[in-house]
Amino acid sequence: MIAPAAEASDSTAITRPSEANSPEEMVDKSGSRIQQMFGEIAGRYDLLNRLLSGGVDVYWRWVTINRCPPQGNDPILDTCTGTGDLALAYWNKANRKVPVIGTDFTFPMLAIARQKQLKQKANPTNASLDFIEADSQQLPFAANQFQIVSVAFGLRNITNTQLGLTEMLRVAKPGGKIAILEFSLPGLALIRVPYVWYFKNVLPRIGQLLARNRQMAYEYLPQSVSQFPYGEELCQIMRECGYVDVTCTPLTFGIASLYIGSKPK
Ligand SMILES: C[S@@+](CC[C@H](N)C(=O)[O-])C[C@H]1O[C@@H](n2cnc3c(N)ncnc32)[C@H](O)[C@@H]1O
Repeated sequence: MIAPAAEASDSTAITRPSEANSPEEMVDKSGSRIQQMFGEIAGRYDLLNRLLSGGVDVYWRWVTINRCPPQGNDPILDTCTGTGDLALAYWNKANRKVPVIGTDFTFPMLAIARQKQLKQKANPTNASLDFIEADSQQLPFAANQFQIVSVAFGLRNITNTQLGLTEMLRVAKPGGKIAILEFSLPGLALIRVPYVWYFKNVLPRIGQLLARNRQMAYEYLPQSVSQFPYGEELCQIMRECGYVDVTCTPLTFGIASLYIGSKPK
């Protein structure tokens, strides 16, 4: 049984990560913009993910569930779950014996996650898999419950990064793990230069063509990635938020990175 939160958390004490950037330079990550953007592209989101990443995003989620695998029977939470791929991957990785919850605040993304769930042919002995509408900055769960709290390509989109990080830590059980999969930039110039060119010039055009939306989601993608901390910088922010044993593993030349941290026992 997963306990709901007793009361809302305080959002006032936390600041944005990239304080060096002035507000006018910062990409708009207001909740309403993010919800509208993902709401508009939800129907094409999975197709574009596979297409634009060449299917590598599936491998990155596979690495996540294998490097941060389920252990024991406590539930797992996947925040910013979107169309639910990581929640589903965790549910199956745990042989459907551990309850998994996916949360997101964009209803059309969750609607697709729920469609996928219906296709899973669950049987009565399976543990529950639920998709719940919730803001990652104010999760509707009591503290200290989840063995794993994960987020894939979602942390960068949360308006207040630190608040997202502290909420994930709050609901994790003591000793529990937090797995964060996020875009980063390759360290090797030979890879980084053509990749950044593709990311800034080709990807937004294909994205906008295939998933027409007023929020320019595929221009937002390179902008938000270029402004978001990665590598040791993000590890340090996680530590400042109270995470321990933080590790960072660059994936596919550093195009994405997997960060794993623990909640102190
Ligand atoms: C790029 S998608 C990632 C979806 C999925 N995790 C995946 O790996 O494909 C980012 C998701 O984060 C969600 N999101 C962003 N900010 C959020 C917030 N504050 N609370 C809940 N969901 C949020 C968006 O609605 C969107 O579905």
